[in-house]
Amino acid sequence: GAPTRYEAETSPATCTGTIDSNHAGFSGSGFCNGNNAVGAAVQFTASASAAGTATLGVRFANGTTTSRPASLIVNGATVQTVQFEGTGAWTTWVTKTLTVSANAGNNTIRLSPTTANGLANVDFLEF
Ligand code: GCU
Repeated sequence: GAPTRYEAETSPATCTGTIDSNHAGFSGSGFCNGNNAVGAAVQFTASASAAGTATLGVRFANGTTTSRPASLIVNGATVQTVQFEGTGAWTTWVTKTLTVSANAGNNTIRLSPTTANGLANVDFLEF
């Protein structure tokens, strides 16, 4: 079916940083501007109807020319490092599609930056 959208500014999502709204084009009422530090994460709780391979989309903007890599941590296990490349402007939002193995029911999806530049700005997760 159609994916469910989980906004970064909406509980139970958490953002180690601030919820900002100063760069237009985001969905909902804001986005996660994670602190510029290793480990300053955004985390979502996303529900799957059945266990198995699931596609997720992360909408982000990176107004720098330097990629902002992050560990993708699913239910506590790091499964890959994802590059969040420069998008050209903080107002240019792009959705990155990833494939993960999910449990039935709730899954925690965490993006934890691996460099001191921190995360790209993160708008939402679709799952
Ligand atoms: C700027 C921008 C923020 C962004 C930050 C960063 O301050 O306005 O939205 O998060 O750069 O480099 O992380």
